[in-house]
This record gives sequence, C-alpha cells and structure tokens, in this order.
Amino acid sequence: MKKPIWIAVVLTVVLMVTLLFGSCGNGKLPASSNAPSADGTNSTTTDSATDDTISAGDASGTGSSVPTRTVTNDDMATIVETSDEWISTRTGISERHFADQETNLSLGTEAAEKAIAMAGIPREEIGVVICATITPDNIVPSQACLLQKSLGLTEQIFAFDICAACTGFLYAMHTARSLLCTMPEKKYALVVASELLSRVTNFADRNTCVLFGDGAGAAVITLDENSRYAFDCGADGNTEVLYCPKSYHNTNPFAASLPEQPEQQVKMEGRAVYSFAVQALSGSIRRVADQVGGYPEHYICHQANARILQAAAKQLKEPMEKFFLDIAKYGNTSAASIAIALDDCVRSGAVKRGESVMLSGFGGGLSYGTAYFTF
Ligand code: ACO
Repeated sequence: MKKPIWIAVVLTVVLMVTLLFGSCGNGKLPASSNAPSADGTNSTTTDSATDDTISAGDASGTGSSVPTRTVTNDDMATIVETSDEWISTRTGISERHFADQETNLSLGTEAAEKAIAMAGIPREEIGVVICATITPDNIVPSQACLLQKSLGLTEQIFAFDICAACTGFLYAMHTARSLLCTMPEKKYALVVASELLSRVTNFADRNTCVLFGDGAGAAVITLDENSRYAFDCGADGNTEVLYCPKSYHNTNPFAASLPEQPEQQVKMEGRAVYSFAVQALSGSIRRVADQVGGYPEHYICHQANARILQAAAKQLKEPMEKFFLDIAKYGNTSAASIAIALDDCVRSGAVKRGESVMLSGFGGGLSYGTAYFTF
C-alpha cells in the first residue's frame, strides 16, 4: 500500500473509534468478556465500573401506567378451575390489570409522559426512543415510531422496538445507553416497555392465564459520570419451554400450499421455566456482583413469581428484604414488569438517590440480563 493511502486508512479508523466511544470516557472501550452462565450457556458481560471507563447510565425519570380494569384471583376463578389460595401461594399474585380500550401505545404514552415530567427535561434533547414489547399494536409502524409522534419528540431520533420478552426493558436500557455514548449532542434516551399480554393469553389454560397482566413502564436514561455501571446478559434459543408463535394471515397466491396458522398464544412448561429462571437470575446477578465487588442495596427483578425471587435470594445468600416485590398488584407483565417495579420503587421512596440497585430479568427467548447502577 502506498504511504499516503496507508496514513489515510489509519486516520479514518482512529476517527471512527473516537466518534463511537469518545463521548463516553476518554475514548476507552468498556471491558467485555464472555463468561459461562449458571446453566452453561455463554453470556456477555460488560463492565464499566472502574473510574476511567465509560460513564454510567442512570434513570433520571420514571413512569408507569396500567389499564383501569382490575381482575382479581376470584375473578379468574370464574373462568378457569383455580382459586385465590392456589394463585397467591404458588405465585404471590393477588390481582392484575387487563386492557379494555387501552392499547400498547396509550399505556406506553402515559408511562412515558410521567417519566419525562419527573425528569423535567426538554423533549428535543431526547435522541433515542426504544420500546421493549412482545405485544405491539402493529408490525409497522413500530411502537417507538408511534411514541415519537404521540409524545411530540424530534424527528432527529433513533426509534425502534426490541423483542426480548421479560428481559426487554434491560436489553433496551443497555442499548439506549450504548447509543447515547455515540451521540454527544443528545443527552437523553427514553426507554418504554409496554405490554398487553391479554392479547396472547389462552384464557382457557389455567397453567398460564392466571399469571399474566397488562401494563407499561418508562424511564428517561442519561449518562452519569459519577455513577458506577455494570451489565450482564445472555440468550439461549428455545421454543420448547416458552413459546408464542406469530400467526400471519397469508394469502400468497403463488404458494403451492399455505402452512396452517398456529394459535398466537403463550405456551409454557412452568416447571422448566421456573428452574431456568432461578439459575439465570442467580448466575447473572453473581457475575455482575463479581464485577462491582459486592452485592447491591436493592434488587428490582422481573416479577414472574415471588417464589422464583425467594429461591434466587437463597442461592445468593442475600436477604429477601432487598428484593422489591409488587407482583401482587400486577402479575407478570413481561417487559413492562421491571419498568413498573422501578417506578414503584422510585415513587414510594423504597430506593433513594445514591443507593445501589441491580435490575435483573429473565424470560422468553430464553433470555436474561442484569444491570447494576447507583441510583
Ligand atoms: N389453579 C389451580 N391448580 C393449578 C393451576 C391453577 N391456576 N395451574 C396449575 N395447577 C395445578 C397443575 O395442574 C398441577 O396439578 P397436578 O399436580 O394434579 O398435575 C398442580 O397445580 C401443580 O402444578 P405445577 O406446574 O407443578 O405448579 P408449580 O408450583 O410449578 O407452579 C407456575 C406453576 C406458577 C407456573 C410456576 O412453575 C412458575 O412460576 N413458573 C415460571 C413462570 C415464569 O417465570 N414465566 C416467565 C416468563 S413469562 C413470559 O416470558 C411471557
């Protein structure tokens, strides 16, 4: 290669690296490693907990919204053979909310409005909007594009959805934070997690229908130089134990034969998912604790079953009092669950500024993830 061309190539590479990471801590890349997860799968771990690595993400405003209709365990017992006693002792759930007129967008918009109001920020400084959901209103446009419109956000924005089931809010937060690192001109990202699980629930299956609920949560994310941050995530593709097929009304006139369309409803092997959840949660939390040198003051985990959190706490030898629980009021709202719990924690004062938290999720995919930050 001739010398001037060689110099130009080097300069271009240096410029690209600076643009990608320069706004997030002296141009240094975050440490990254692959560690085996509790169940033997690979997980990706990113640590920015040292002084000179990238700055931390922080939720500067939170919000949530649930449908007005509350459905109690006794109400569920009118449609399937179950009881308040069985549901509450096996899961910790007392009631959930199911949408009537509400949509994914209406719930997401209300949660986001509350988060923006709490953060008290100018909307034009929001450079990213991500919606985590497995129950969008449409295939196109995405929920994130619809949120851009309904919230009056600028057109100069990254807007897209993430499908990672109950881990969706964590994946979205980490993605938003990573994007902010590349956008020095934008200070904030908006992460919304909105679900109408009633759209994909088989209300004749008592094994699953008593578990789910509808709702949305949102957080305004910003990079905080003074906060510590660490993250772990993983995935292990599986349609055996947790599965919700997509049903397409296919009218392709050129197809020799059209496949029969599956029912678009969640199917779950409860016990297998339970075992995965306990291992994934404790393994992921342990890996993040190793990075930051200890356990946090609070855990805000996916609310699928109170017993899963009790079992994980026992494995970690951590007191259950550190684990926030609001499953009694909402059931399992998939991606929205951690976002709603985070908002409940903030508004109730259960977590205070300066305290350390781990958000941890697991679910369909199979997928899991944990994020540590000081609030
Ligand atoms: N009411 C009464 N009885 C019931 C009900 C019900 N709603 N559901 C199941 N049963 C019965 C079963 O039929 C079974 O009866 P049998 O012994 O006569 O066969 C008995 O109760 C025990 O069933 P199990 O499945 O063993 O109950 P378990 O204690 O495992 O609890 C549960 C089931 C709550 C589903 C649990 O396994 C669990 O929480 N699993 C994990 C779910 C989860 O975390 N999902 C996350 C992802 S969801 C997503 O991604 C959208």
